[in-house]
Amino acid sequence: MTGWLHRKALNLDALPAAQRLKPSLDWWHLVALGVGGIVGTGIYTLVGVGANLAGPAVTLSFVVAGAICACAALAYAEVSTAIPASGSAYTYSYVALGEVIAWVVGWSLILEYSLVVSTVAVGWSGYAGGFLAAMGWPMPHALLAGPLDGGVVNLPAIVIVAVVAGVMMVGTRESATLNAVLVLVKIAALLLFLAVALPHFNLAHYHPFMPNGFSAHDAGGATRGVMAAAAIIFFAFYGFDAISTAAEETRNPGRDLPIGIIGSMAVCTILYVAVAAVAVGAMPVAGFAHSAEPLAAILRSIGSGGTAVVIGAAAIIALPTVILAFLFGQSRIFFVMARDGLLPGWLAAVSPRTGTPIRITLLTAVLVGVLAGLVPLAQIAALANAGTLLAFASVAVCMLVLRRRLPVAGRLFLTPWPWAVGSVTVLGCLYLFFSLPGITRTFFLVWNVAGLLYYGLWKIRQKG
Ligand code: ALA
Repeated sequence: MTGWLHRKALNLDALPAAQRLKPSLDWWHLVALGVGGIVGTGIYTLVGVGANLAGPAVTLSFVVAGAICACAALAYAEVSTAIPASGSAYTYSYVALGEVIAWVVGWSLILEYSLVVSTVAVGWSGYAGGFLAAMGWPMPHALLAGPLDGGVVNLPAIVIVAVVAGVMMVGTRESATLNAVLVLVKIAALLLFLAVALPHFNLAHYHPFMPNGFSAHDAGGATRGVMAAAAIIFFAFYGFDAISTAAEETRNPGRDLPIGIIGSMAVCTILYVAVAAVAVGAMPVAGFAHSAEPLAAILRSIGSGGTAVVIGAAAIIALPTVILAFLFGQSRIFFVMARDGLLPGWLAAVSPRTGTPIRITLLTAVLVGVLAGLVPLAQIAALANAGTLLAFASVAVCMLVLRRRLPVAGRLFLTPWPWAVGSVTVLGCLYLFFSLPGITRTFFLVWNVAGLLYYGLWKIRQKG
């Protein structure tokens, strides 16, 4: 019964073998891919950024961002089982909303995936450079930062993207298994933080709870408030959506996609809210609000410097799983766009030996590697959030449109209270979008205008 809609709408069965991806993943690979994509630089760094914007109410920001993402995850679970094709929000929009909207969504997804990969690669380079220096092998600044950051090229960032892309080309199942092992390291590190910091919990650190109010507003040179923090912390929560790009490589998508999407989201939401609550309880927010490594700062303040080192090491070992999840997602979305004719068709070829799309993986890695090697991306992770918010809202709209347009009989996962879940997702994403800094929204607009111009030119060339 799986994929009743995609067989009709996308005709995947009729594709030539060279354009079909090999189904090799099980549900636990998907849960691990989701957690691998979600738990990353976000939880390791944004507790501090959020605390600076919201005060102790950063815990509430985590709950708000988590609730909106949970609704989006339900919408993804429903739509991805109805249309188990690898293009994620791009393909769903293509089927439910038409080509132009699909193009805008696909263009936004490029922003999400490429910027996340580059941001995490640059963040990883920071940890790795620090680690090498501590070992007595400092790297010159010229090779640790791009030209806009006073260096020449960020070499470790390029190397880590190349290594992850290499693993991906070996095989999807092999990458997913390695990913699952590394995910356990990341979860263990966060559990260790909870176990060590919890005994130092002091409720007094929660007063005053909401010093900057709830809604986002400009104050002291930044956009502050619980919602402003939620709009940034949103970065920490997404990644589960990358699972939907593995639909064609999943053996039993109807059952395994909902387990993977909802399972990984549930695990991470519980873990994140616990980490944020314990972090604020263990140290007054002023102590870690400006730290680039807030969890380590908190551990040092309570006399657990050794644990801080262990958590730093776990981050170096395990952060590449975020790169893997998003590089995987980006390559699959490009792959489907090429198969649909929106990108050159020769990119949509699958290697007969490995069953993976080698050409598009290589191209994606080069693009993202160049970005990571040259551009200072840490500041513009917010732009990745803007792209993701549009994708999440579009998936919720697709869910509602498909509910009206097509019978629900035979679908393997149906979201409970779809109209409530869909509306919370769309309105929540809009609210988060308008809580982002103004400059981010302007960049996002410019990106989409450029995308539509490209689309218009492509259409004219196609007709001519
Ligand atoms: N959720 C991912 C992270 O925090 C993007 O790194």
